[in-house]
Amino acid sequence: MPSSNTRLDKLLSSLGYCSRREVATLIREGIISHIDNFPLKSDTKVAHDKIRFEGEPLDPPQGMVILMHKPVGYVCSHDDGEGRLVYDLLPERWRRRDPKISTVGRLDKETSGLLLLTDDGALLHRLTSPKHKVPKVYEATLDRPLKGDEGEIFASGTLMLNGEKTPCLPAKLTVIDETHATLEITEGRYHQVRRMFAAAGNHVIALHRSSFGDLTLEDLKMGEYRLLSSSLFINH
Ligand code: URA
Repeated sequence: MPSSNTRLDKLLSSLGYCSRREVATLIREGIISHIDNFPLKSDTKVAHDKIRFEGEPLDPPQGMVILMHKPVGYVCSHDDGEGRLVYDLLPERWRRRDPKISTVGRLDKETSGLLLLTDDGALLHRLTSPKHKVPKVYEATLDRPLKGDEGEIFASGTLMLNGEKTPCLPAKLTVIDETHATLEITEGRYHQVRRMFAAAGNHVIALHRSSFGDLTLEDLKMGEYRLLSSSLFINH
């Protein structure tokens, strides 16, 4: 989906506005237009920024990075059968974009907090690859008071989780009070934070991701999202 000189029908269908076949009708109806009133046909080669749909500029081209404040109860999946999806919080037509928007890793249904989504496959790979060790901070509310040895256990680099072949990389625990702590991890194993506390004899009753690399939610409210500049990730 290059941002300049793309066939109009290909551009609009890749952004999820309509099917390629519908473009001719939408041009006739004046729904699709060119800012310089350039006459359009389905196969006209156009620049993304010159086209209007219902008078509005088009959604961003490929290379979107979305920072979302995920609420509890939403699933990081494309499968409608799984209940409310994080994609339900985005504009409906974004679901039809090609390349597809996907989450950068996953947060459990019961976990809230900072979630990144992107349609940039290379960026997705880089941010989720264990090689890159992106630090992620989680705020955990615990069922039982901390015993005092958890910081040492998590920092040791020897903690084995059930069913895993290698120990967790060292992680940093910061105690807030006896049932609240933050944990910084650089991996993204399945249910990792919950399983780490379980391995240390506790149980997580609420979990919230407050940061991903240098990114934080700032004042973003639950269920809201904002677009980030992909240049933020150039050195990651
Ligand atoms: N660890 C968990 O247990 N759950 C998440 O959603 C993320 C990390």
